[in-house]
Amino acid sequence: MNYNISDRINALQTSTTMDIAAKSIEMKSNGIDLIDLSVGEPDFPTPEHIKLAAKRALDNNQTKYTLNVGTLELRQAIAKKLLYDNNLQYSPGEIVVSTGAKQSLFNAIQVLVNEGDEVIVPTPTYVSYIQMIKLAGGIAGTVPTKEADQFKLKPEILLENITPKTKLLILCNPSNPTGTVYSPRELKDLAQIIVDKKLFVLSDEIYEKLIYDFLEFRSIASFNDEIKKRTVVVNGFSKSYSMTGWRIGYAAAEEEIMKNMAKLQSHSTSNASSISQAAALEALSASQEIVEFMRNKFEIRRDFIFTEINKIPGLSAIKPEGAFYLFVNVSELLNKQLNGYNFSTSSDLVIYLLEEAKVSTVPGTAFGAEGFIRISYANSMENLMSAVEKINQAVSKLF
Ligand SMILES: Cc1ncc(COP(=O)(O)O)c(C=O)c1O
Repeated sequence: MNYNISDRINALQTSTTMDIAAKSIEMKSNGIDLIDLSVGEPDFPTPEHIKLAAKRALDNNQTKYTLNVGTLELRQAIAKKLLYDNNLQYSPGEIVVSTGAKQSLFNAIQVLVNEGDEVIVPTPTYVSYIQMIKLAGGIAGTVPTKEADQFKLKPEILLENITPKTKLLILCNPSNPTGTVYSPRELKDLAQIIVDKKLFVLSDEIYEKLIYDFLEFRSIASFNDEIKKRTVVVNGFSKSYSMTGWRIGYAAAEEEIMKNMAKLQSHSTSNASSISQAAALEALSASQEIVEFMRNKFEIRRDFIFTEINKIPGLSAIKPEGAFYLFVNVSELLNKQLNGYNFSTSSDLVIYLLEEAKVSTVPGTAFGAEGFIRISYANSMENLMSAVEKINQAVSKLF
């Protein structure tokens, strides 16, 4: 049967991270004791008070459609958060709650990108941006960043890559997959270029709360009114509150942009789940102690995995300052005859680690960067210790 799948969808690539996660799940279901360091979600359960709020919402029959843009209470709480945490003043009318941050990213790209518009995407990058740009008919102009620059987009490189067709820059700060965090100075310089060149920026701030070494998180939108008008801020509850399954994210920007994002959402998912919205309201309204508790745990794990992985011959990584990933340089292991093995790509190495060490990671190619693998440290210390040991043994066999 020929289903004549649309050209639009045929042009999309499947998410490599999902493929590897599926393979890991299959190995696990076959009884193989696997340590999964490929995942992009916190290992903590959703905090109890948030779950209780969802139960209350159910008991109170908050089980109907909400406003398409999200409940007023939740958007008010988000506006308050943006003001207190980020010094950004948005009215509830400039905020749309979506089904995960992913839907906000999708909506923003659909609303801002026209057929043939170019979007600058610094790589290594979160996998989905490029496919979303393609779906909108845009052209993803990937711009490689260097490990020596902590994978940061330099202002001069941004300038070099702007063409008359460039409309938008995508900035993931803190970054998945590298854990890079931009300093306020660096953001200010990028913001100036965005304003001067009359571009827009989609600022993915989903890892905002997972930031280490007492660094200060700044939103690129927060420097002045001009850059704020040219920014769509995207954030959500998945990572900060360990709520990946609840699917709540949001975007904030100028009313003109948000009205159109709301219009698009009204024709796709309507509103995010009413129960999840009630839970998200509780997450923002209650004490933020639990966020700090989880952040602190991640920082301890970051320190451990960073130190231990760097001790393994053939592997090296720069210290990530945010998110929960270590982006490991494995180029020393590629394209060499190593004790009978020859890995030509980071995917070959990921498969080797899966089979030999029973540890699952993600190849850099999934993020547009060959020569690296991504290790997620959103896992227990016990598992991380065991994984490091197993990776060490597997990699040692190569020499
Ligand atoms: C950089 C980045 N943005 C957005 C998302 C999607 O988040 P959500 O679960 O809120 O859709 C993820 C999830 O992995 C991510 O890593």
